[in-house]
Amino acid sequence: MMTQFFFALTNPEAEPLLKLEVLSHFPSFKLSYSRPGFLTFKGDSSGQFNPLMARLSGKCLGKFQLDELKYKKAWVWKRDEKFTIPSELAALSDQSLFKVGETVTLIMMVGLNEYWVGEYQLQSHHFQTPGEVSSIEVRSVPSRAYYKIAEAHEAFDLPFEEDEIVLELGSAPGGASLFLLDQELNVLGVDPAEMDPVIRNNIRFKHLKRPFETLRSDDFRNGVDWIISDINLPPTVVLKEVERLLTFLKPKGLVLTLKLNQEKHLNSLKYTVKNFESWGFENVRLKYLPSHRQEIALIVQHS
Ligand SMILES: C[S@@+](CC[C@H](N)C(=O)[O-])C[C@H]1O[C@@H](n2cnc3c(N)ncnc32)[C@H](O)[C@@H]1O
Repeated sequence: MMTQFFFALTNPEAEPLLKLEVLSHFPSFKLSYSRPGFLTFKGDSSGQFNPLMARLSGKCLGKFQLDELKYKKAWVWKRDEKFTIPSELAALSDQSLFKVGETVTLIMMVGLNEYWVGEYQLQSHHFQTPGEVSSIEVRSVPSRAYYKIAEAHEAFDLPFEEDEIVLELGSAPGGASLFLLDQELNVLGVDPAEMDPVIRNNIRFKHLKRPFETLRSDDFRNGVDWIISDINLPPTVVLKEVERLLTFLKPKGLVLTLKLNQEKHLNSLKYTVKNFESWGFENVRLKYLPSHRQEIALIVQHS
C-alpha cells in the first residue's frame, strides 16, 4: 500500500470526534498538519477516506504557492470568513462546474497566502458548493434546527409531499417546524417546552406538550408520514423510543439528529444503521451537515 496524504474539513466542535474516528478506523493514519476546521492525515489507504464527522474529505495533494495554482477548473474554499480570496481564484471557482461523479479539485485557502489542494469525488448528497458550505439562506428563525432540516432536505432531496404529517420529537422552540410548515406539511410537535408563537398559531401545527415517552398509538388517528427528531438526549434513549414508536407507526422516512457528545455514541452508529436496515428500511444514511456541531443526521427511508 502507498503512503498518501488526506484532508478533512469539519466544524470546530466536531474536530475531536473526527480525530478519534480517523485514528480508530485507519490504524496506520497519523494526524499531520492541521488548522481549525482543516485537518490532514498521513497514512496507507487504498480504499475510500470518508470519515463520518467530516463535512468533506479526500486526497490531499499538498501545499502550493499562489502562482503554482494553474488549474483550468477548481473550486476555492476559504477556512475563515475574514479571508479574501484573490480575484483570479474567485473567478476560477465561479466559472467551474462539476457534475456528480466527477473529481473536484478543491483549492483550500487555509491561511493568508497559504493554499492547499485536495481532490474528492462529487456525490449527489454533497452541497454543490466549494467545501460543502451550505447554500441555505440565513434568515430569522426560532432555532438552528431550521438549518439542520433544511440542509438534510437539500442534501438528500427528501420527498416531502404537501399535506403529509410529520411527527417532530423535541419540537420547541420551532426552527425545524418552521421549515416543515413552509413546505406545506402538517406538524405534530411533541415537547414539554413552549413553542414559538409563530409556530403555535399556525393552523397546520398541533402541540402535544408532553415528553415523547408518553406517546401512545391512539395519539395518531391519521398515522404519520415522517418522524423528525432533534431531542437533546443521548442517542440510546432517543433510538429506544423511536423503536417503540415504530411498533405502531409506519412512516415513510425518518430524519434524526443524533447528539454525539461521547465517543461511545460515535462508535455505535454502525449498529444503529444495521438496526434500521433489519427493520426493513432499505436506505439508511448518515451525514454531517454544515450547521452541525457534535451531532450527525441519520436519514432513513424506504427506497
Ligand atoms: C435542541 S432542542 C430542539 C429544537 C427544535 N427541534 C427546534 O426545531 O427548535 C431539544 C428539545 O428537546 C426537548 N426534549 C428533551 N427531552 C424530551 C422528551 N423526553 N420528550 C420530548 N421533548 C424533549 C427539549 O425540551 C428541547 O426543546
